[in-house]
Formats: sequence, structure tokens, C-alpha cells
Amino acid sequence: MLYLAADHAGFEQKEFVAHKLAIDGVAFEDLGTFSKEMDDYPVHARRVAKEVIKHGGTGLLFCGTGVGMSIVANRTKGIRAAVVWNEEVAQRSRDEDDANIACLPARLVSNETAWEIVRMFLATTFGHEERYKRRVKEIDRI
Ligand code: RB5
Repeated sequence: MLYLAADHAGFEQKEFVAHKLAIDGVAFEDLGTFSKEMDDYPVHARRVAKEVIKHGGTGLLFCGTGVGMSIVANRTKGIRAAVVWNEEVAQRSRDEDDANIACLPARLVSNETAWEIVRMFLATTFGHEERYKRRVKEIDRI
């Protein structure tokens, strides 16, 4: 499953991406927030991280810079959350780092750019090259 969440700063971009996903027939679960009312990103990042670990799949988190969401999500063991600000980073975060959550900087990239980034993230799988596997394994050993 694909899990989405945002804080107030990422709310509009999450809505935009959710709309595009729906048009493309991509199944997802929207875990909030559901308004522009100011709130705090940790609760949303933690919720998506827990769902990804529990059920598998991937997550998309939207906040102002992507940074707060990534810091919190990465505290859940097994989560590899990447701040993705362009398509190349999105592609490499999956191919090389096996990222399972993308954190979008909603204040810094347009909604259209965010959608292209998300498309790339979802279209790319882990490269499975030996050196990538070795590095990802090393993350969880620490
Ligand atoms: C909220 O203003 C902002 O701090 C938050 O969305 C995020 O950018 C934090 O990293």
C-alpha cells in the first residue's frame, strides 16, 4: 500500500498529488492532515512510518522542507526516508538506497514538480546491485 500524510505546510501539495494518483488509478491511503489548520509534522511522519513497517509498501510525506518529516520517519527502524527535491534524487533514493518513504519539500517545489518526483519515486525499484545491498544492510546493523 502507498501511505500519504502531510502537515499544514504540505497539505495542499498532498491533495494535489492524491488527486493525480487517483486519476492514474494508484491505490493509496491518505492518513491526513485534512485541512490547512496549523499542526505538527511528527505525528504524521510517525503514523506513515508505522504503517509502512506494519503492512509494507511505501510512503509519501509532505511538509515545508521535507526535513522534519524525514527526521521523524527515520526514527522508526526499517524506514529509509529520503528528502526528494528532484527526479534524479527520487530515482537514486530508490535505486541506490531502497528508500521506502519520500519526503517532499512542499514550500520549495511546485505541485507539478512534486508530482513528477513522486512518479519517478514510485516507478523506480531497488537496484539490487551488490554494493547497494551491502550498504542498505549496514544501515540496519547499526
Ligand atoms: C512548518 O512550518 C514547517 O516547519 C514544517 O512543515 C517542516 O518544514 C519542518 O521540517
